Amino acid sequence: MCFGIRGKIFSKGIEISYKWFTFFPADDKISCMKKQVMPAIAPLKGCIEIPSDKSISHRAVIFSSLAKGRSVIKNFSAGADCVSSLNVCRNLGVNINYLDDKTIEVISDGNLKEPSEPLDCGNSGTTMRLMSGILAGQNFNSVLIGDESLSRRPMKRVIEPLSLMGARITANDNKAPLKIEGERLNGILYRSKLASAQVKSCILLAGLYADGVTSYTEPAKSRDHTERMLKAMGADITVDGNTVVISKSKLAPVQITVPGDISSAAFFITAGLIVPESEILLKNVGVNPARTGIIDVVKRMGGSIELLNEREESGEPVADIRVSYSKLKACDISGGDIPRLIDELPVIAVLATQAEGITVVKDSSDLRNKEADRITTVVNALKLMGADIKERTDGFVIKGKTELKGGCELETFHDHRLVMSFYVAGLVSKNPIVIDGFEWSKISFPGFENLMESLGVG
Ligand code: S3P
Repeated sequence: MCFGIRGKIFSKGIEISYKWFTFFPADDKISCMKKQVMPAIAPLKGCIEIPSDKSISHRAVIFSSLAKGRSVIKNFSAGADCVSSLNVCRNLGVNINYLDDKTIEVISDGNLKEPSEPLDCGNSGTTMRLMSGILAGQNFNSVLIGDESLSRRPMKRVIEPLSLMGARITANDNKAPLKIEGERLNGILYRSKLASAQVKSCILLAGLYADGVTSYTEPAKSRDHTERMLKAMGADITVDGNTVVISKSKLAPVQITVPGDISSAAFFITAGLIVPESEILLKNVGVNPARTGIIDVVKRMGGSIELLNEREESGEPVADIRVSYSKLKACDISGGDIPRLIDELPVIAVLATQAEGITVVKDSSDLRNKEADRITTVVNALKLMGADIKERTDGFVIKGKTELKGGCELETFHDHRLVMSFYVAGLVSKNPIVIDGFEWSKISFPGFENLMESLGVG
């Protein structure tokens, strides 16, 4: 089915042409929709529950598929990426059932079975990179495939260290599809040049199946959900600073409640800070210190942000976050900050357009390897909206505070985080904007717009 409307809207004297298209192909995988975002005319006020953490949901379903017994995962993400991980595990013979719309049970005998077809990771880099580490050490062959965006993303970062462990992976130009011939692996001592949790997790998971010890050192600390969860599941794993050591282990099943995703909360944190008079309470957000870079940046910018009711749930720190409209000043973001807020940088760019002074973001060239090139796309979009932003090879420089004019259509290249970042920019622009590919927000955040609307947007 394909449905489309074309037309024009007039707002505050500006004429915007729009197209609204939705395609529902047989497999419901592709969707293309243009969304008009109106400037917020009232403060955002209220208390909302942020949906489930994507990184933790991936790990919960994948790791419990490796454990002998029955695991229960509460508040499992409904995002398309995590559903890709779930389906890949099912296609490897694991019995996974929904107990309700947010709870799954995973029943496994601890062994994966040879898949009868290629394993489709969809848009999800986390699925492909984590699964490649697991599949490399199995006694069967498999093929990992992904969508157009994932098939362009670099896989050398996992192929190289896995090959050092004895893995046999064939890929054209180090890109998906990855053809993996199961092999006996040996442990390695690996120093990564990248602070990437996906690469780290891939090697640690391969280490679960490898003979001998695997030691992985990263240049700066990336998110450590893998280390926490594997430890809780009984793996032989130790962490010392930026080095993790793991040995062959069997995993025990778990009961996990996944917290809210701070990367999703980031859109509401930003909106709350920049839409005048707003005040928002975000409930149950994961505040793992390897993920809270955005909170530190907001504090450095002088923003009003508070953690309340801090607690630990299923081995992860959790809190409620109160944020309110603030006068912001620019700050520098670089080095060890970057892995702690890598996914939040597009929306932090929006934040910086509303901060007084020059915000410099450095050391983040890996943003170019995400679902889209997040440096060029953010710079082009915000420039089009009227921001004073300059592109650097490894980041951007933003001079604020600028009024965003809007009145334009923004390309997002099917990147969920760009879609939602630009939506937030639209809330503080003078004229409406149109966002291309709005549907892609479902990759990590189904219901994003409804939640915004519940705070008074629209
Ligand atoms: C993730 C790690 C990060 C992040 C991605 C999720 C994870 O990627 O950008 O959205 O769950 O491990 P890199 O490891 O490529 O930095």
